[in-house]
Amino acid sequence: MKQNAIRHLLQSTDFDRPVVVQGWVRNRRGSKSVAFVHLNDGSCLANIQVVVNVEEFAEEIIKKIAVGACLEVEGKLLASQGSEQACEVLAEKLVILGEADPEKYPLQPKAHSLEFLREIAHLRPRTATFGAIFRIRHHLGFAVHQYFHERGFFYWQSPIITASDAEGAGETFRVTTLPLAQMPKNETGAIDFTQDFFGREANLTVSGQLEAELGALGLGLVYTFGPTFRAENSNTTRHLAEFWMIEPEMAFYDAKDNQDLAEDFLKYLIRFVLTHCSEDLAFLEERFQKENSQKKKEEQSEMGLIEKLRFVLENEFVRISYTEAIDILQASPYHKKKKFKFEVKWGIDLQSEHERYLVEKHFRKPVILFDYPKEIKAFYMKQNEDGKTVRAMDILFPGIGEIVGGSQREEVLEKLQARTDALGLTQNLWWYLETRRFGTAPHSGFGLGFERLVQFVTGMGNIRDVIPYPRSPQSADF
Ligand code: 4AD
Ligand code: MG
Repeated sequence: MKQNAIRHLLQSTDFDRPVVVQGWVRNRRGSKSVAFVHLNDGSCLANIQVVVNVEEFAEEIIKKIAVGACLEVEGKLLASQGSEQACEVLAEKLVILGEADPEKYPLQPKAHSLEFLREIAHLRPRTATFGAIFRIRHHLGFAVHQYFHERGFFYWQSPIITASDAEGAGETFRVTTLPLAQMPKNETGAIDFTQDFFGREANLTVSGQLEAELGALGLGLVYTFGPTFRAENSNTTRHLAEFWMIEPEMAFYDAKDNQDLAEDFLKYLIRFVLTHCSEDLAFLEERFQKENSQKKKEEQSEMGLIEKLRFVLENEFVRISYTEAIDILQASPYHKKKKFKFEVKWGIDLQSEHERYLVEKHFRKPVILFDYPKEIKAFYMKQNEDGKTVRAMDILFPGIGEIVGGSQREEVLEKLQARTDALGLTQNLWWYLETRRFGTAPHSGFGLGFERLVQFVTGMGNIRDVIPYPRSPQSADF
């Protein structure tokens, strides 16, 4: 490896030394005698300027220095004469590693719509916007591991293929090797899954939580960070069929400890990006402001992107119960003016319009909602004494809605089994129930949707633009 990362060269003041850069041409301008070529290698947002004295190179090579082409340049690092950059490379040797026909290359140096870029997702890592997003995504992923490692958590791998549906919502993708055209049947005419690869029905996991609980009830503090899959047919800007989730699970934590950890964790991640990704954030801020100014007045964000991130850092999250939230919504001018599409009454699953009202209009801060009605939450949540609610928590963020979902877990065998019996899950989850039979312990955990976090931090409106290759209904290209 002989090349220098452009990120390092741009910070260097060690001029007049020989350097090698490799990268893709973002732009080319200049005159007949000098070409100024802007090269980017993905190591940072900025391009480096390569100065090419046209006469010194074969015409054949000069012709091929087109937008999208990949070049290797050997030359000298010089203090730049132009005011736009600190340094530049004076080319001495040029190799065209890969040509790009300017007539056909789809990414010309002009503004492309995000919709168009989704159609050419194989090339979008070469744009400034997606370079910035994916560098930030990397930093967030790294910060997740650093946060937990520093606090004594162990990285735990829950299986991706499972026979259970952790959230019990029946939105799983099946995993099978049975021949689709000729499924084996048993005497009752049902598909005979005993002949399938695992000898039973299997699916892709919707959450690593249940197995993370097993880990926490031995290792104390664990977290998962892996892909999860949901076959829900929601074509929204917040849902993916394949998304990454971070799920810490902590023995001996109660619901309050769980909330404290989640708030501290989110703030740590945001602070990490503010500290380490300032160049990319500043670029995304500009695009955020531009996009924001084109929105309808009532949909505009009052804060800039970085301002919003700082705001979340500097303010305590509001913590209120579901019941209090319903009271606030019912007393709201929105409700009185019948501006909510969905009915507001105790027992409903809050719709995104309700969550957004609480976060964006009423409190204007992130909100932690807790103690939800048990009917609308998963079977594993700890039941409260009132017999009506469970120790759930959802964290709601401005512009995003739910970013975290979690709870204290039911650790009392009889109570948990009453729920699994009612849902017909007891047989399948015998191993989960055994952790309550032997040495049960209070414990809690939550799940942070990684893409929703990246969306919040980058200010991108559509979740499909913060994961390299989004999976959604009717779409699994690339
Ligand atoms: O609220 P959810 O369904 O909670 C769980 O799966 C629990 N097992 C977590 C736990 O307690 N360990 O999902 C957690 C988070 C949501 O708050 C949201 O951020 C994200 O995962 N999420 C999605 N993100 C993208 N696309 C989807 N279809 C998502 N569904 C949930
Ligand atoms: Mg949820």
